[in-house]
Amino acid sequence: PPLGRMLSLDDIEAVALKVLSHKAMAYYSSASDDEQTHHGNIRGFTRFFFNPRVMREVRQTDASTRILGYRSSLPVFVSAAGLAKLGHPLGEVNITRGCAKGGIIQVLSSNASSSYSEIAEAAAPGQTLFFQLYKSADDSAAEKRVKEIEALGFKAIFLTVDAITGGKRERDVRGPWYLEALETGKETYHNDDDPLLEVSVDGTGGGLVSNDDQNMTWEKTIPWLRRVTKLPIVIKGIQCVDDAVLAAQAGVDAILISNHGGRQLDYSMPSIEVLYRLRRRHPEVFEKMEVYVDGGARRGTDVLKALCLGATSVGMGRPFLYAQTAYAEHGVAKAISILESEITKGMKFLGAASVKDLVPDMVERVDWQPV
Ligand code: FNR
Repeated sequence: PPLGRMLSLDDIEAVALKVLSHKAMAYYSSASDDEQTHHGNIRGFTRFFFNPRVMREVRQTDASTRILGYRSSLPVFVSAAGLAKLGHPLGEVNITRGCAKGGIIQVLSSNASSSYSEIAEAAAPGQTLFFQLYKSADDSAAEKRVKEIEALGFKAIFLTVDAITGGKRERDVRGPWYLEALETGKETYHNDDDPLLEVSVDGTGGGLVSNDDQNMTWEKTIPWLRRVTKLPIVIKGIQCVDDAVLAAQAGVDAILISNHGGRQLDYSMPSIEVLYRLRRRHPEVFEKMEVYVDGGARRGTDVLKALCLGATSVGMGRPFLYAQTAYAEHGVAKAISILESEITKGMKFLGAASVKDLVPDMVERVDWQPV
């Protein structure tokens, strides 16, 4: 279908699911175990309803914001998601170009299928790129990686802390390629979030293998990263209130409340719920650092709910993988323009002329099940 017919991110996803290979679809869409956290991320937003304010001047509505000081046309960014080339030959480059058009920031995955320098070169003049880091257990290798991406002009490090081992993504392994591996006895299969880390499927149920540093701590790892780089540090994968408080104490620049799109620990709390609890129990944390959230956001209203609850910005992973799969860079630009129109409309309805007018009183969590 022509791009002009795409009205929502779900429309684009439906097209992508038709054109993706079975293997790529399994990789993009799957989550761990029974996928309760993934679906909980999406459904979690449906428990929040608005208290819209009327009779406010909203003819001029401005949805732009700053993320770590960098301008973004919307309070939305592309969350790091690996292997975009599984969906389209240009992969991550599609996302870079679409973001240049739409004016939002891309967080490039450590496991990008395009090289980091290719992405730096594909960026438009002045375009902001951030980088997501999987920290190797070898400090000097990790340091080298950080220096490399700093030199390429990436402006922030998102250190992922929820992926010290791979989630058990059954849809991802349960496929013809897996049966083949069972028959031949062994295959090295890049299906983890980290293909640096080879995933070995040997039919013995040994599961996913990861070389990530499993001994990261607040006391050791944050000061280490501070020594290694002057770039802002964002901790990606905060899944509960207490860790958000520890991150603020550790003095990081921002956190990304995230459960990896439900791909790690199943039954980790839906992201929007963690944000809601943090706002209620520790509103002071939002003064100390920026707070972002990702997981399950698919609509402008989802973004607005998170902003009312104190988030600076909302990340999306799968929607941009699907958009570039279905329509290359145009799909990414289209997804951004759909979000822009949904967000701007929503702000007018809420009586918010700018993102700072989005406040906690505008959103309420209901305990009845919406229809
Ligand atoms: C991811 N995610 C992820 N996160 C990360 O820090 N490094 C990575 O390499 C990847 N790779 C990855 C691949 C795929 C296919 C998906 C779907 C996700 C997690 C990602 O950054 C983000 O947290 C989630 O995608 C957010 O959830 P939604 O928006 O996909 O629901």
